Amino acid sequence: MLNLTGLRKTFFAGTPNEVRALQGVDLNIEAGSFVCVIGTNGSGKSTLLNSVAGAFYVDDGQIQLDGKDITRWPEHRRAKLIGRVFQDPFSGTAPSMTIAENLALASSRGRRRGLSLALKGARHGELRDRVAAMGLNLEDRLDNPIGTLSGGQRQSLTLLMAGLLRPSLLLLDEHTAALDPRSADQVIRLTQEFINRDKLTTLMVTHSMQQAASLGDRVIMMDRGRIIHDISGVEKDRLRPEDLLARFDDVRRANQLDESAAEMLRAQYV
Ligand SMILES: Nc1ncnc2c1ncn2[C@@H]1O[C@H](COP(=O)(O)OP(=O)(O)OP(=O)(O)O)[C@@H](O)[C@H]1O
Ligand SMILES: [Mg+2]
Repeated sequence: MLNLTGLRKTFFAGTPNEVRALQGVDLNIEAGSFVCVIGTNGSGKSTLLNSVAGAFYVDDGQIQLDGKDITRWPEHRRAKLIGRVFQDPFSGTAPSMTIAENLALASSRGRRRGLSLALKGARHGELRDRVAAMGLNLEDRLDNPIGTLSGGQRQSLTLLMAGLLRPSLLLLDEHTAALDPRSADQVIRLTQEFINRDKLTTLMVTHSMQQAASLGDRVIMMDRGRIIHDISGVEKDRLRPEDLLARFDDVRRANQLDESAAEMLRAQYV
């Protein structure tokens, strides 16, 4: 389904600011799997998702989706197969356009069906029902600009739009991080509903150990551009937030040891 082989990405290569964001990532995700991605700040989680979405090209490695090699596909071409929701509620939608217009755009993307037809659908048909089913009372505000909605309402709509065309892959990058706890819970509930209903293959980045333990069927932990833990099956079913926190502590300790060792080496050679 999604097959990543040997992905590498270095930013500012050959300069003092060089960052090796991905240092050889191999990952195979089966169709219908819901994978949570965790890891410390800067461990490469967003770079991984951005590489798959095509925000930039990887330096090395291969990305296969649905059996197609998309490694060199431009972002807009991948967008037909991939739905995404980012952390920022303001990034996924056009603020001056109405809810109906945004939905119409999302539902007609990559299709020949005209925008005006889609717009009609957004006001009356299945689209309206889907909005109503979110339970946010937005079906009566379809002609309001998206910019007038709260962050939680916007993320819910962005999520609906991202999943609308049943993408081969759904990418969620801390999509509840900017929301208050109640809105975050609501968006997570919707996330689960949409993924379950359409059996969407999903990669979701989160800093919430609660979410990582309770959602999905697999957790991967990244550290310094690599996948260092991959938990699935019964082990995932039994996983508690504390287990994940303990693994974070191990990573921190190992990194501190590495730093002390590097410092000692530096001290010896100056
Ligand atoms: N577009 C970019 N240009 C330059 N450096 C980048 C870019 N994107 C990421 N990086 C760097 O690559 C490293 C990994 O970043 P990334 O955003 O993937 O981390 P992350 O795991 O998503 O962290 P966080 O939990 O803070 O979101 C960081 O050092 C970051 O500064
Ligand atoms: Mg990130």
